[in-house]
Amino acid sequence: MKYNFDEFINRRNTYSLKWDGAELIKEFGLTERYDAETIPLFTADMDLPVPQPLVDALHKTVDHRIYGYSVFPDEYFAAIQHWFQKRHDWHFPKEAIVYSPGTVHALNVAVKALTEPGDGVLIQRPVYPPFTSAIEGNARVVVNNPLVLENGKYVLDLEDFEAKAADDNTKLFILCHPHNPTGKVYTKEELSRMAEICRKHDVLIIADEIHGDLVRQGKTFMPMAKAVEDSSHIITCTAINKTFNTAGLHCTNVIITDPDLRAKYALEMGMQLASPFAISAVIAVYNEGEDWLDQLKEYIDGTMEWIETFLKEKMPKVKTSIPDGTYVMWLDFGGYGLTPDEIHDRIYNQANVLLEDGHLFGEEGSQFQRICTPSPRPLIQEAMTRIAKAFEDLS
Ligand SMILES: Cc1ncc(COP(=O)(O)O)c(C=O)c1O
Repeated sequence: MKYNFDEFINRRNTYSLKWDGAELIKEFGLTERYDAETIPLFTADMDLPVPQPLVDALHKTVDHRIYGYSVFPDEYFAAIQHWFQKRHDWHFPKEAIVYSPGTVHALNVAVKALTEPGDGVLIQRPVYPPFTSAIEGNARVVVNNPLVLENGKYVLDLEDFEAKAADDNTKLFILCHPHNPTGKVYTKEELSRMAEICRKHDVLIIADEIHGDLVRQGKTFMPMAKAVEDSSHIITCTAINKTFNTAGLHCTNVIITDPDLRAKYALEMGMQLASPFAISAVIAVYNEGEDWLDQLKEYIDGTMEWIETFLKEKMPKVKTSIPDGTYVMWLDFGGYGLTPDEIHDRIYNQANVLLEDGHLFGEEGSQFQRICTPSPRPLIQEAMTRIAKAFEDLS
């Protein structure tokens, strides 16, 4: 089936955080202005229709008319294993799969299960803000190994990484791969080096790989656990959320191959059952969602190319490049010589477009803005046109 991703599906009055969450969004301090004309391109979900087999599977579940406690059938685990084998050439046993209602939930559980208050947890800023909350909110300490911007590309500082991993207080590393917000996809060498350094210094790893299916066409993604021979110190977060736009169904699968780590994680988490909607969704998308995903990737690549060309023509002072992974773009507004507040004011208040201020990802990001691109292209075009207008006096 051919999907029409240009179609605008109105999400107002559907409990959408992006489209109906004005009060909450203001409370978070993300924007001051939010009204009927606001184009929200901040939180990472898509304004695009999901695969038809998913819609059919959910209909079947709804039509049953009873939504009680549910168990995971064999088909659930088989669908997950099949997907990772086929798309990423990665095999793990069924017992390694642990359900979680969300990836941020899983990060918090893992931090509590695997470290003690006061322990250091390594992250690579600028990075997805809930990494910091999972650390500081649980009284652990952020150890930052910033990614370094070199000629418009982010690179790893492995020397600094090793120095920080070698500190006796550092007990855990949270990897974001592909990296949100920079879109960096690590090479096998980079992954294996980081994993080896962590093993050498007894640092456990949570690899948050929930953007792993969303790399550009022609690019490959390697799970960190596949990059090393012994991956028993790695916990991998996978999810259908980002790939198939199902964040509201709450279904993350954490892959923990080591039985001791798995037991510690399970003890901290307590019993977690999934809804019949989450279970039927996982089975449907992993078994029948491939064709949709290939079409989606083509669409996102096209949108990113459009944004890149638009910026070159209309806002050459904004620097960006199409990232290898994720569906976000990280836009460097530093060329305008404005303060972060002035940049914010032009985008959020004048253009009435809601992006995400770079400082939220760490001070390294303060001159940047993150845009989520998986919306109908005409909506993205309207948002970018408004933003360009708000900066035209400076061009
Ligand atoms: C790296 C990363 N991890 C986790 C999440 C959120 O996952 P969940 O909705 O499963 O908690 C996001 C959402 O954008 C993300 O980018």
